Amino acid sequence: MKKLILVTGGTGYIGSHTVVELIENGYDVVIIDNLYNSEAEVVDRIAKITGTTPPLEVFDLCDAARLESFFRKYQNIDGIIHFAAYKAVGESVHKPLEYYRNNLVSLMNLLDSMKKTGIPAFVFSSSCTVYGQPEKLPVSEDSPIQPAVSPYGNTKQIGEEIIRDTISSDPNIRAIALRYFNPIGAHPSGLIGELPRGVPENLVPYITQTAYGLRDELKVFGNDYNTPDGSCIRDYLHVVDLAKAHVIAIERLIGNKNKSGFEIFNLGTGNGVSVLEAIKSFERATGVKVKYRITSRRAGDIEKIWADPSLANRELGWKTVSSLDEAMRTAWEWEKFIRKPHGNEN
Ligand code: UD1
Repeated sequence: MKKLILVTGGTGYIGSHTVVELIENGYDVVIIDNLYNSEAEVVDRIAKITGTTPPLEVFDLCDAARLESFFRKYQNIDGIIHFAAYKAVGESVHKPLEYYRNNLVSLMNLLDSMKKTGIPAFVFSSSCTVYGQPEKLPVSEDSPIQPAVSPYGNTKQIGEEIIRDTISSDPNIRAIALRYFNPIGAHPSGLIGELPRGVPENLVPYITQTAYGLRDELKVFGNDYNTPDGSCIRDYLHVVDLAKAHVIAIERLIGNKNKSGFEIFNLGTGNGVSVLEAIKSFERATGVKVKYRITSRRAGDIEKIWADPSLANRELGWKTVSSLDEAMRTAWEWEKFIRKPHGNEN
């Protein structure tokens, strides 16, 4: 019988790509999403790609009573992949309580339900933000956790601790936290991708919107960092590669192949890429020029970080396969797709 996976935030950027990979790997999926930062029609696009329409339950995970009635309706869930969370670093500084409440209450409600219903497997979206500026690069999972620079980052650190403590108290629950580096790109079908509301905060949506003519120019935040070309360095990985890691993680938990109750894995390519190199990659992959200007540093930015993904390579048998250029090309295809008037979709 097919296993049923609950994907929270399944209409969002990483969530929707993961739903596609789960379905393509023989899982049934049910999605919970409050559509705060996504659209219900993503489900139709998932159906176009996979031939399957996963059920979407629209509600807020902070609503514990509603969540309980959800679990009464779906009694055969085998595992949970939890994406649903607020994620804008800058916004979190201005709305800390919203971030703590939303990201942590939803997590606690889900863990509570797992205890009550006996669902054993939990995959958590974490972030390389927990490392701050690491002293040693590339950064491995045992690098020290630094004090968070934003409430958003803090919700990821506290989230991991909540999971660790819950698992210590309940041997029936097992979990994997995946620390993402910088996910970019879109599904090769061009039907799903990142949909930032308003002005994008992240680099690649800003690049594609500038290339499309929606933004006048891209601001490169600083060229006086201690890096070869002076701009910041990150580890950009294709979102489809990232999505595949979630399928492996949930399989590992359901199959009870994890070595301890709680495991943590870095998910990145292992390559550091500067902002200026990222722009060049986009231009090379698409043939489209990006107008950019060097400006001052952005507050709170880390100078350089990239992953040591060897634990995930070894233990999960996972590694990235898509190139940076390929990720940029798909990001561009997606940008062009979403700018088409609705109705052109069919
Ligand atoms: C940040 C968070 C990360 C979070 C992610 C989600 C930190 C350290 N990192 O990633 O945990 O998961 O957001 O949104 O908190 N840049 C420009 N111009 C722009 C936009 C960005 O030059 O218009 C540069 C930035 O300075 C940075 C790089 O591009 O060097 C990547 O920035 P961004 O895409 O915002 O991601 P992070 O800040 O790495």
